[in-house]
Amino acid sequence: MAHIPVLLNETLEYLNADKGGKFVDGTVGGGGHLRAILSRNKSNEVLGIDLDQASLRKLEAELTAGGLSQKTKLVSGNYANIDQILQQVGWDQVDGILLDLGFSSLQLEDSSRGFSFATDGPLDMRYDRSQTASAESVVNQYSPKDLEDIIENYGEERLNGRIAAAIVAARKEKRITTTSQLVEIIKSAVPSSIRFKANDNIRRVFQAIRIEVNRELENLKSALPKMVSALAPRGRLVIISFHSLEDRIVKEFFVSEAKDCICPVEFPTCVCGKTSTVRILTRKVIKATDLETEANPRSKPAKLRALEKN
Ligand SMILES: C[S@@+](CC[C@H](N)C(=O)[O-])C[C@H]1O[C@@H](n2cnc3c(N)ncnc32)[C@H](O)[C@@H]1O
Repeated sequence: MAHIPVLLNETLEYLNADKGGKFVDGTVGGGGHLRAILSRNKSNEVLGIDLDQASLRKLEAELTAGGLSQKTKLVSGNYANIDQILQQVGWDQVDGILLDLGFSSLQLEDSSRGFSFATDGPLDMRYDRSQTASAESVVNQYSPKDLEDIIENYGEERLNGRIAAAIVAARKEKRITTTSQLVEIIKSAVPSSIRFKANDNIRRVFQAIRIEVNRELENLKSALPKMVSALAPRGRLVIISFHSLEDRIVKEFFVSEAKDCICPVEFPTCVCGKTSTVRILTRKVIKATDLETEANPRSKPAKLRALEKN
């Protein structure tokens, strides 16, 4: 199934895509959002970035066939390096930046990528297939303590200790190389009384390993200030996140950027000298409508936050 872009109208509205300008799609994937941005105004140009070389090759061919390559630049890279990438393509400040985090349906449905626990495949989970760290190296090489911490911190999984111990015991017998091996190991660590809902545990552990393999939270944290710097005055930043760990990082960054002073409350006067650089546009987080979640269940956990540079 093709990747359906989530919160599409909301994204275009918050990006101010009707106005015409230069936009960055930091997670361009199948190009759903990119195409919609281009169609909003004839003068729009989009720089699309993705770590996944295969997705970019496919998109490039489609954009060329559709006569859209003149208005787009595609770069294989990490959105966390947006400053260097903008320099590389000769763009200075931009009018809007979008991040639609996580993985695409194309990646999930390709069992050779190892993102899905529903189909058997190699334990991979890399967006960037040229990097060495993969789910296989995390599962087979990390210390028991590191596995426990990752499963707790990135998967918010409370059976982290049992699951880490089961992984360590299994890998002593035989290297863990496939998603189905990992699924069985996780299942075996879930007490039999609650094993009927082990898919929840499996989903959380897969999420944790994927976040670790791709350094997802580190990338997001380091990208946000660079993205605000890259915006022109009145430029917009729109972030769509899919789990609470990402959303918390976005929310805390937005709140702190919008504040005039970040001195501890007990300080009688401001010593930090910080002034607000942005205005938050989404006082309440934006979620998909019932209509959208029915048509595209992937949109259900999506949360959109947007800001405007002063
Ligand atoms: C949810 S998909 C984006 C889908 C896209 N908005 C569309 O409508 O087709 C997320 C994409 O971000 C890419 N990605 C994840 N982390 C990245 C990073 N740090 N830098 C660049 N791309 C990244 C993934 O490879 C994936 O293709």
